[in-house]
Amino acid sequence: MAKFSFPSEFRWGVATAAAQIEGAWNEDGKGLSIWDVFSRRPGAVANGDTPSVACDHYHRWPEDVELMKTLGIRHYRLSLSWPRLFPDGRGVHEERGFRYYRSLLEALVKAGIRPLVTLYHWDLPQSLQDEGGWLVRSTVEAYAQYATACFEAFGDLVDDWVTFNEPWVVSQMGHSTGQHAPGMRNTAFAYQVLYHLQLAHAKAKLSYQALGGKGRVGWVVNHAAFRPATASAADREAAAKVDEIGFFLYLDPFFKGEYRPEAAHYLKAKGWMPQGETGDGAILQQGCDFIGLNYYSDLMVSADPTSQDEVKVFQDPDAPKTTMGWTIWPQGLAQILRKGSVRYPKVPWIVTENGSAWNDTVEQGAVHDSARVDYLKSHLAWLGRAVSEGLPVEGYYSWSLLDNYEWAYGYAQRFGLVHVDYPTQKRTVKDSGLWYSQFIKNPVIELPSAIPE
Ligand code: FCB
Repeated sequence: MAKFSFPSEFRWGVATAAAQIEGAWNEDGKGLSIWDVFSRRPGAVANGDTPSVACDHYHRWPEDVELMKTLGIRHYRLSLSWPRLFPDGRGVHEERGFRYYRSLLEALVKAGIRPLVTLYHWDLPQSLQDEGGWLVRSTVEAYAQYATACFEAFGDLVDDWVTFNEPWVVSQMGHSTGQHAPGMRNTAFAYQVLYHLQLAHAKAKLSYQALGGKGRVGWVVNHAAFRPATASAADREAAAKVDEIGFFLYLDPFFKGEYRPEAAHYLKAKGWMPQGETGDGAILQQGCDFIGLNYYSDLMVSADPTSQDEVKVFQDPDAPKTTMGWTIWPQGLAQILRKGSVRYPKVPWIVTENGSAWNDTVEQGAVHDSARVDYLKSHLAWLGRAVSEGLPVEGYYSWSLLDNYEWAYGYAQRFGLVHVDYPTQKRTVKDSGLWYSQFIKNPVIELPSAIPE
């Protein structure tokens, strides 16, 4: 097998999100987020877990920055909590919130760790939700003001910004299936929300340009690798259809100013076409300076004339799974990067999340998470394949630095390279964290065979 060395400028990082690690849910003037409220709804989150304390990172961040430094990590993707900065979503800002992020970002930069900052990782201020949340256009304006305030306050420390994390999850799980905050169940709402997120991204990007920002503004999609169940033309067509609706729909407007005709036709036929205003097309067409990809798993697709959408999406029953119940198919990482680069030529990609949950336990001060090490190794090998083929991929951020609040799964699912004992808040670097720390010093992989079609 041929060996491949990642280029020296390739970014190796770790990722987290504010609501999942900070805790301090009602300290220093922070307003409520939709997750503070939703998690208290009976039955909404496993075990009734709330993000109130999480990893207590709000108080322990110096220790966590030090930990990253010790592990040799030079890139960190974090998110800002909107209600910590604007408790009511707009209007009066909370100085203590701004001071907190300023200290954290300064400490990161001083430690030689470059921040990649997500403005929205799901924690909408509850007061904006009370006005209709992402269903109403006024939230787009509130977001644009919030984003502008962050660009102004932290622009000297941050050069790569992400406007939104996983719009698919925000729109579909938040508004169609109801598994996530704010817990709505109306698919037409979900697509209206998506449209508003896309508009909000574009408005933030315009504002960044108007401020003369020297960095970049990107958007992060999540996508499962949709694999045709057989090589038949019908199954391949079915998988391509799922890619259109579940993936490209989330990116196309930035490059075309509108949804593609096939996607628009589908949304209209379902009665899910979102409402916009004249002139939106020109605003939407702002592009993305980079696209972030969060990749975890794959799904099989077959043509199914009996089902409403004429496709069936299912898990391979024989595939290995993590404790989240997600199947493992590392080839998918390379496959999606290739598909995406074909569709949007010349746009750089960053793998902004990838990781796996396992039942980790601390034994004599160590966590032997060999399954996570295997997951990492196999995904990095396929990432290497993608980079070796010249696909424009700039970096990889492992999800996650720490075990943390896994949304509707609460604290039961552990994704960290570092174990967190919640009662004592003790951090223990897992074997995977030690392995990653070594790997990024000399990132060489054995190249796997060709990327599957
Ligand atoms: C992604 C989220 C991230 C984390 C991982 C496991 O969908 O962006 O916050 O929960 O899944």
